[in-house]
Amino acid sequence: MALPNAVDSSQELLNAQSHVWNLTFSFINSMCLKSALQLGIPDAIHKHNKPITLSELADALSITKSKSHALFRLMRVLVHSKIFDKVKTGEEEEAYALTGTSGLLLRDEPLSFAHFALTTTDRVAVDTYHCMTEWFRDECPTPFETKYGRDVWEFGADDGKWNQLFNKGMTRDSELVGSIFVRECKHVFEGLETVVDVAGGSGALAKAITATFPGLRCVVLDHPQVVDGLR
Ligand SMILES: C[S@@+](CC[C@H](N)C(=O)[O-])C[C@H]1O[C@@H](n2cnc3c(N)ncnc32)[C@H](O)[C@@H]1O
Repeated sequence: MALPNAVDSSQELLNAQSHVWNLTFSFINSMCLKSALQLGIPDAIHKHNKPITLSELADALSITKSKSHALFRLMRVLVHSKIFDKVKTGEEEEAYALTGTSGLLLRDEPLSFAHFALTTTDRVAVDTYHCMTEWFRDECPTPFETKYGRDVWEFGADDGKWNQLFNKGMTRDSELVGSIFVRECKHVFEGLETVVDVAGGSGALAKAITATFPGLRCVVLDHPQVVDGLR
Protein backbone atom coordinates (compact mmCIF):
# COMPACT_ATOMS: atom_id res chain seq x y z
CA MET A 1 0.00 0.00 0.00
CA ALA A 2 1.42 3.43 -0.94
CA LEU A 3 1.89 5.81 1.98
CA PRO A 4 0.58 9.37 1.78
CA ASN A 5 3.27 11.89 0.75
CA ALA A 6 3.50 13.37 4.25
CA VAL A 7 4.67 10.01 5.64
CA ASP A 8 7.69 9.21 3.49
CA SER A 9 10.31 7.97 5.95
CA SER A 10 10.43 5.39 8.74
CA GLN A 11 10.86 8.15 11.33
CA GLU A 12 7.90 10.09 10.04
CA LEU A 13 5.82 6.93 9.97
CA LEU A 14 6.67 6.20 13.61
CA ASN A 15 6.07 9.84 14.59
CA ALA A 16 2.66 9.74 12.94
CA GLN A 17 1.84 6.47 14.67
CA SER A 18 2.82 7.78 18.11
CA HIS A 19 0.88 10.98 17.48
CA VAL A 20 -2.23 8.89 16.81
CA TRP A 21 -1.47 6.77 19.92
CA ASN A 22 -1.22 9.92 22.03
CA LEU A 23 -4.45 11.33 20.69
CA THR A 24 -6.45 8.14 21.06
CA PHE A 25 -5.25 7.56 24.61
CA SER A 26 -5.32 11.13 25.86
CA PHE A 27 -8.63 10.42 27.66
CA ILE A 28 -6.50 8.35 30.07
CA ASN A 29 -5.15 11.62 31.53
CA SER A 30 -8.59 12.91 32.51
CA MET A 31 -9.74 9.49 33.75
CA CYS A 32 -6.60 9.13 35.91
CA LEU A 33 -7.23 12.59 37.35
CA LYS A 34 -10.83 11.61 38.08
CA SER A 35 -9.73 8.40 39.79
CA ALA A 36 -7.09 10.24 41.85
CA LEU A 37 -9.75 12.63 43.12
CA GLN A 38 -12.26 9.87 43.87
CA LEU A 39 -9.58 7.86 45.70
CA GLY A 40 -8.57 11.01 47.61
CA ILE A 41 -4.89 10.91 46.59
CA PRO A 42 -4.18 14.69 46.87
CA ASP A 43 -5.70 14.73 50.38
CA ALA A 44 -3.79 11.59 51.41
CA ILE A 45 -0.47 13.19 50.36
CA HIS A 46 -1.42 16.45 52.09
CA LYS A 47 -2.40 14.63 55.30
CA HIS A 48 0.95 12.80 55.28
CA ASN A 49 2.68 16.19 55.69
CA LYS A 50 5.70 15.12 53.66
CA PRO A 51 6.28 13.26 50.37
CA ILE A 52 4.61 9.86 50.52
CA THR A 53 6.08 6.58 49.26
CA LEU A 54 4.04 4.23 47.10
CA SER A 55 3.49 1.71 49.92
CA GLU A 56 2.51 4.47 52.37
CA LEU A 57 0.07 5.81 49.80
CA ALA A 58 -1.40 2.34 49.17
CA ASP A 59 -1.93 1.97 52.93
CA ALA A 60 -3.54 5.40 53.21
CA LEU A 61 -6.12 4.73 50.46
CA SER A 62 -9.10 2.39 50.62
CA ILE A 63 -7.98 0.18 47.74
CA THR A 64 -8.00 -3.59 47.34
CA LYS A 65 -4.58 -4.94 48.34
CA SER A 66 -4.19 -6.93 45.10
CA LYS A 67 -4.53 -3.65 43.14
CA SER A 68 -1.66 -1.89 44.94
CA HIS A 69 0.75 -2.58 42.07
CA ALA A 70 -1.57 -0.68 39.69
CA LEU A 71 -1.25 2.38 41.90
CA PHE A 72 2.32 2.79 40.62
CA ARG A 73 1.00 3.03 37.06
CA LEU A 74 -1.72 5.50 38.02
CA MET A 75 0.86 7.68 39.79
CA ARG A 76 3.20 7.47 36.79
CA VAL A 77 0.51 8.98 34.57
CA LEU A 78 -0.27 11.64 37.17
CA VAL A 79 3.39 12.60 37.59
CA HIS A 80 3.67 12.82 33.82
CA SER A 81 0.62 15.15 33.80
CA LYS A 82 2.31 17.27 36.50
CA ILE A 83 -0.48 16.60 38.98
CA PHE A 84 2.13 15.21 41.39
CA ASP A 85 5.90 15.48 41.73
CA LYS A 86 8.21 12.51 42.23
CA VAL A 87 11.01 13.36 44.66
CA LYS A 88 13.99 11.43 46.06
CA THR A 89 13.77 10.85 49.81
CA GLY A 90 16.89 8.67 50.18
CA GLU A 91 19.51 6.79 48.15
CA GLU A 92 16.94 4.59 46.47
CA GLU A 93 13.60 5.71 47.79
CA GLU A 94 11.23 7.92 45.84
CA ALA A 95 8.07 9.56 47.05
CA TYR A 96 5.18 11.63 45.72
CA ALA A 97 4.58 15.27 46.56
CA LEU A 98 1.87 17.78 45.72
CA THR A 99 2.34 20.35 42.96
CA GLY A 100 0.59 23.73 42.64
CA THR A 101 -2.06 21.94 40.58
CA SER A 102 -2.81 19.19 43.11
CA GLY A 103 -2.77 21.83 45.87
CA LEU A 104 -5.78 23.31 44.11
CA LEU A 105 -7.46 19.89 44.14
CA LEU A 106 -7.49 19.43 47.93
CA ARG A 107 -11.09 18.97 49.09
CA ASP A 108 -10.94 21.46 51.97
CA GLU A 109 -9.05 24.25 50.22
CA PRO A 110 -11.29 27.35 50.11
CA LEU A 111 -10.83 27.59 46.33
CA SER A 112 -10.68 23.83 45.73
CA PHE A 113 -11.16 22.89 42.09
CA ALA A 114 -11.71 19.18 42.80
CA HIS A 115 -15.44 19.43 42.40
CA PHE A 116 -15.19 21.15 39.03
CA ALA A 117 -12.90 18.37 37.75
CA LEU A 118 -15.33 15.72 39.03
CA THR A 119 -18.22 17.45 37.24
CA THR A 120 -16.50 17.70 33.88
CA THR A 121 -15.22 14.10 34.02
CA ASP A 122 -18.57 12.71 35.20
CA ARG A 123 -20.15 10.00 33.06
CA VAL A 124 -23.15 12.26 32.27
CA ALA A 125 -20.82 14.83 30.68
CA VAL A 126 -18.29 12.46 29.10
CA ASP A 127 -20.94 10.19 27.51
CA THR A 128 -22.15 13.10 25.35
CA TYR A 129 -18.84 13.05 23.46
CA HIS A 130 -19.60 9.54 22.26
CA CYS A 131 -22.58 11.06 20.42
CA MET A 132 -20.71 13.71 18.43
CA THR A 133 -20.85 11.85 15.13
CA GLU A 134 -24.55 11.08 15.55
CA TRP A 135 -25.10 14.78 16.41
CA PHE A 136 -23.42 15.92 13.17
CA ARG A 137 -26.03 13.86 11.33
CA ASP A 138 -29.14 14.73 13.35
CA GLU A 139 -31.06 17.97 13.98
CA CYS A 140 -30.30 18.31 17.72
CA PRO A 141 -28.72 21.63 18.80
CA THR A 142 -26.17 19.95 21.10
CA PRO A 143 -24.61 16.48 21.51
CA PHE A 144 -26.11 16.53 25.02
CA GLU A 145 -29.59 16.52 23.47
CA THR A 146 -28.62 13.76 21.06
CA LYS A 147 -27.58 11.64 24.02
CA TYR A 148 -30.27 12.51 26.58
CA GLY A 149 -33.21 13.80 24.51
CA ARG A 150 -33.26 17.13 26.42
CA ASP A 151 -30.90 19.99 27.12
CA VAL A 152 -28.51 20.02 30.05
CA TRP A 153 -30.75 22.34 32.11
CA GLU A 154 -33.87 20.19 31.60
CA PHE A 155 -31.77 17.15 32.45
CA GLY A 156 -30.66 18.92 35.66
CA ALA A 157 -34.29 19.61 36.59
CA ASP A 158 -35.03 15.85 36.32
CA ASP A 159 -31.85 14.42 37.81
CA GLY A 160 -31.12 15.70 41.29
CA LYS A 161 -27.71 14.06 41.53
CA TRP A 162 -26.42 15.64 38.33
CA ASN A 163 -28.05 18.97 39.22
CA GLN A 164 -26.20 19.05 42.53
CA LEU A 165 -22.90 17.96 40.98
CA PHE A 166 -23.12 20.46 38.12
CA ASN A 167 -24.13 23.42 40.30
CA LYS A 168 -21.36 22.71 42.79
CA GLY A 169 -18.81 22.41 39.97
CA MET A 170 -19.93 25.75 38.50
CA THR A 171 -19.89 27.36 41.95
CA ARG A 172 -16.31 26.27 42.52
CA ASP A 173 -15.29 27.66 39.12
CA SER A 174 -16.91 31.05 39.75
CA GLU A 175 -15.59 31.25 43.33
CA LEU A 176 -12.07 30.94 41.95
CA VAL A 177 -12.55 33.30 39.03
CA GLY A 178 -14.66 35.66 41.20
CA SER A 179 -11.89 36.03 43.78
CA ILE A 180 -9.51 37.18 41.05
CA PHE A 181 -12.12 39.21 39.18
CA VAL A 182 -13.01 41.45 42.14
CA ARG A 183 -9.32 41.97 42.87
CA GLU A 184 -8.15 42.71 39.33
CA CYS A 185 -11.22 44.41 37.83
CA LYS A 186 -12.39 46.72 40.64
CA HIS A 187 -12.85 49.60 38.18
CA VAL A 188 -15.68 47.70 36.44
CA PHE A 189 -17.93 48.24 39.47
CA GLU A 190 -17.15 51.90 40.15
CA GLY A 191 -20.30 54.04 40.16
CA LEU A 192 -22.67 51.06 39.89
CA GLU A 193 -25.62 50.58 42.27
CA THR A 194 -27.02 47.29 40.98
CA VAL A 195 -25.55 44.34 39.11
CA VAL A 196 -27.67 41.57 37.59
CA ASP A 197 -25.96 38.24 36.98
CA VAL A 198 -28.13 36.48 34.41
CA ALA A 199 -27.61 32.71 34.63
CA GLY A 200 -25.56 33.43 37.74
CA GLY A 201 -25.82 29.89 39.12
CA SER A 202 -25.80 29.69 42.90
CA GLY A 203 -24.56 33.28 43.14
CA ALA A 204 -20.88 32.66 43.86
CA LEU A 205 -19.79 35.60 41.71
CA ALA A 206 -22.48 37.85 43.22
CA LYS A 207 -21.26 36.88 46.70
CA ALA A 208 -17.65 37.71 45.77
CA ILE A 209 -18.78 41.09 44.38
CA THR A 210 -20.91 42.06 47.41
CA ALA A 211 -18.17 40.94 49.82
CA THR A 212 -15.82 43.44 48.15
CA PHE A 213 -18.43 46.14 47.41
CA PRO A 214 -20.96 45.89 50.26
CA GLY A 215 -22.97 48.88 48.95
CA LEU A 216 -23.65 47.19 45.64
CA ARG A 217 -26.94 45.32 45.16
CA CYS A 218 -26.56 42.05 43.27
CA VAL A 219 -29.46 40.20 41.67
CA VAL A 220 -28.97 36.63 40.49
CA LEU A 221 -31.30 35.02 37.95
CA ASP A 222 -31.22 31.31 37.23
CA HIS A 223 -33.40 28.21 36.85
CA PRO A 224 -35.56 27.15 39.83
CA GLN A 225 -33.61 23.90 40.34
CA VAL A 226 -30.41 25.97 40.67
CA VAL A 227 -31.63 28.71 43.03
CA ASP A 228 -34.20 26.75 45.10
CA GLY A 229 -33.19 26.54 48.72
CA LEU A 230 -30.45 29.18 48.44
CA ARG A 231 -30.40 31.98 50.96
C1 LIG B 1 -22.13 27.27 32.85
S1 LIG B 1 -23.28 27.60 34.12
C2 LIG B 1 -22.56 29.02 34.88
C3 LIG B 1 -23.22 29.40 36.18
C4 LIG B 1 -22.69 30.67 36.85
N1 LIG B 1 -22.59 31.81 35.94
C5 LIG B 1 -21.35 30.38 37.48
O1 LIG B 1 -20.35 30.87 36.94
O2 LIG B 1 -21.32 29.67 38.50
C6 LIG B 1 -24.61 28.29 33.17
C7 LIG B 1 -25.81 28.67 34.01
O3 LIG B 1 -26.82 29.15 33.12
C8 LIG B 1 -28.07 28.82 33.67
N2 LIG B 1 -29.11 28.95 32.64
C9 LIG B 1 -29.19 28.27 31.47
N3 LIG B 1 -30.29 28.64 30.80
C10 LIG B 1 -30.91 29.58 31.55
C11 LIG B 1 -32.10 30.34 31.37
N4 LIG B 1 -32.85 30.19 30.28
N5 LIG B 1 -32.44 31.21 32.33
C12 LIG B 1 -31.69 31.35 33.45
N6 LIG B 1 -30.56 30.67 33.67
C13 LIG B 1 -30.18 29.79 32.73
C14 LIG B 1 -27.85 27.41 34.17
O4 LIG B 1 -28.81 26.95 35.08
C15 LIG B 1 -26.45 27.52 34.77
O5 LIG B 1 -26.51 27.81 36.15
